[in-house]
Amino acid sequence: MTHWIDVAAEDDIFEGSSLAVAPQGRDIAVYKTESGEIFATSNACSHGIAQLSEGYLQGYEVECPHHQGRFDIRTGQPTEPPCIAPIKIYPVRIEGGRVFLAL
Ligand code: FES
Repeated sequence: MTHWIDVAAEDDIFEGSSLAVAPQGRDIAVYKTESGEIFATSNACSHGIAQLSEGYLQGYEVECPHHQGRFDIRTGQPTEPPCIAPIKIYPVRIEGGRVFLAL
């Protein structure tokens, strides 16, 4: 059975931005697109030492603040070099205005 963890209020994340959360000691970025969809990925860039929650969200892509590599936040797949390794994604559920992640 999937164990869902409450990580934030939906309203804590502004459209077009992201929030770093740390459930059970993990480093996760939660994103809200301009259209209000919510996604979650590991916060660490797979290319170097950088936090994707400090990057720039455009559509479904997050740009790493360090070398401007990009990932698709829906799939975790890299979309722009120098990123070549995917990042982990987490299933998201919204309930009662809260954001839950399946770890
Ligand atoms: Fe993220 Fe290099 S550390 S692109």
